[in-house]
Amino acid sequence: MILVTGGAGFIGANFVLDWLAQTDESIINLDALTYAGNLDNLSSLEGDARHLFVHGDISDTTLLSNLLATHQPRAVLNFAAESHVDRSILGPEDFIQTNIVGTFKLLETVRAHWNNLPADAKKNFRFLHVSTDEVYGSLTKDEPAFTETHRYEPNSPYSASKAASDHLVRSYHHTYGLPVLTTNCSNNYGPYHFPEKLIPLMIVNALAGKPLPVYGDGQQIRDWLYVKDHCSAIRRVLEAGISGEVYNVGGWNEKPNLDIVHTVCSLLDELRPKTDRQSYNAQITYVTDRPGHDRRYAIDASKIERELGWKPAETFETGIRKTVMWYLDNQPWVANVQSGNYREWLTKNYAERSGTST
Ligand code: NAD
Ligand code: TYD
Repeated sequence: MILVTGGAGFIGANFVLDWLAQTDESIINLDALTYAGNLDNLSSLEGDARHLFVHGDISDTTLLSNLLATHQPRAVLNFAAESHVDRSILGPEDFIQTNIVGTFKLLETVRAHWNNLPADAKKNFRFLHVSTDEVYGSLTKDEPAFTETHRYEPNSPYSASKAASDHLVRSYHHTYGLPVLTTNCSNNYGPYHFPEKLIPLMIVNALAGKPLPVYGDGQQIRDWLYVKDHCSAIRRVLEAGISGEVYNVGGWNEKPNLDIVHTVCSLLDELRPKTDRQSYNAQITYVTDRPGHDRRYAIDASKIERELGWKPAETFETGIRKTVMWYLDNQPWVANVQSGNYREWLTKNYAERSGTST
């Protein structure tokens, strides 16, 4: 079996669901169930003996060493993190705790377990760390996309904490020989995405008749990847990646934020037209920019394609249509995640940003 951390969050839950759809290998899923962790994401696995959910923190070394000793997973995949840039700006401490201290504790516990494995199991064991393109910093319009050797230049407390975790993972390979793999992926979108992030926030706000808050001029560029393509890349890296190597994962799909919002609005105009026949575009509102906002991310994913034969299956057009349809078909899921905590977050993040409509 394998052990994943953070498997009740957006990417982790998609990974767990896809893994069990593709293989019969069991999964232990360790998740602290922060505001971003949601067992509803995994409800289709109820009664499935191949999935063992454990409520706990990656910093809990006693819990972790017991899990490793009892279940002897052949790999640990670390998805657990604080993941939202805006939250890291308004309160960085949780990011330091989980992304840096948590990853360190996880690495220490895994190293102690791995050290005592028999030679064969030790050689075949893998620690796969799921990271982000944001560690590389921001690109100008004409700079080439990030390769695996691009210098680290994180600009937000989120990306700085992820960069620190990447460095720790790297050091455990170089110093202790722990067989690690690191993936640095671009922005994901798809089912189960918490509506604090751009795409699900725009879908949810549009349907609720609320403003669609575009930061600054909306010309910041992100490289978007459908979440199931990220999951298939991780499965491929786990299967065939070389220990100690880093793989960039991306969709070859750079788009300015405003284009993304327009695309979401057009799809909603088509699939759920407003009764007054106005376009959802009319709800777009320009609001105060994010401090230190990175202008452009772009991933060069040629290494993973060349060495491991991985390519994304979805184009942005197919992936975004599936995503919008998923949100339309899963309104109870959306209603459940909009708890008091979520509403408090919206007030905290958006109340101070003055807005102007298009
Ligand atoms: P998410 O915020 O949706 O989910 C994070 C999960 O981790 C939640 O289930 C949460 O409960 C859990 N968690 C948080 N702290 C924990 C702790 N201390 N112990 C155990 N569990 C804990 O995040 P996501 O978008 O699914 O991202 C998953 C990983 O992928 C993160 O490491 C993130 O940095 C990375 N990543 C995300 C993106 C993206 O676009 N979302 C892109 C590239 C990389
Ligand atoms: P986000 O989904 O938070 O991901 P990240 O900051 O990790 O790239 O944001 C994606 C882009 O969308 C980013 O440039 C910020 C922008 N954005 C808005 O314009 N308005 C919003 O309300 C949010 C949440 C993000």
